[in-house]
Amino acid sequence: MTTLLGISGSLRRASTNTKLIRAAAGIFAADTFVEADINLPLYNGDLEEADGIPAVVQKLSDQIAAADAVIIATPEYNKAISGALKNALDWVSRTKGNPWAGKPLAIMSAAAGRAGGERAQFSLRLAMMAFRPDIVQGPEVLVANSGQEFDEDDRLKGEKYNKQLGELMDALKARI
Ligand SMILES: Cc1cc2nc3c(=O)[nH]c(=O)nc-3n(C[C@H](O)[C@H](O)[C@H](O)COP(=O)(O)O)c2cc1C
Repeated sequence: MTTLLGISGSLRRASTNTKLIRAAAGIFAADTFVEADINLPLYNGDLEEADGIPAVVQKLSDQIAAADAVIIATPEYNKAISGALKNALDWVSRTKGNPWAGKPLAIMSAAAGRAGGERAQFSLRLAMMAFRPDIVQGPEVLVANSGQEFDEDDRLKGEKYNKQLGELMDALKARI
């Protein structure tokens, strides 16, 4: 029984990164696929001191710990990861233990630009370094011009992307 957790770095309802983690999950075909909610309060040390770790943050941390593998798809906001994603990573780092340690993790990106969020993906690798997950190094899935790359049923178009995503999911599975 495998559980896959998907984290989309975009809060937008029609997010192409959310579509991308769903496409990846469809290929991975875990017994259970869980989508994380990173619509969290902004990290604020005063809030943490007064009220402790918010329940939504603890839930996310527990979901990471319980997952056999995690996928993160990040948008590119000004050449880096989204603030929502960084905020979620910062909050989780405040929970007890480190749910990321050794966790099989595949990262990917979908962005409007021609490079498909390559710089954001690189910045995500850097942001994750502190937590020591087991990051699958490739192939890199960089969905460029992402608004045009999903059909009306939200399926990822194009043989190239689907092949890359398949290889990435195979590599992720091999880490479990
Ligand atoms: C604040 C902001 C900054 C952005 N900066 C970039 C960028 O540096 N490179 C890029 O390719 N797209 C950039 N975009 C466009 C995003 O790639 C595009 O909105 C994409 O669809 C976001 O992912 P989503 O569909 O999952 O929401 C930016 C968008 C926003 C809102």
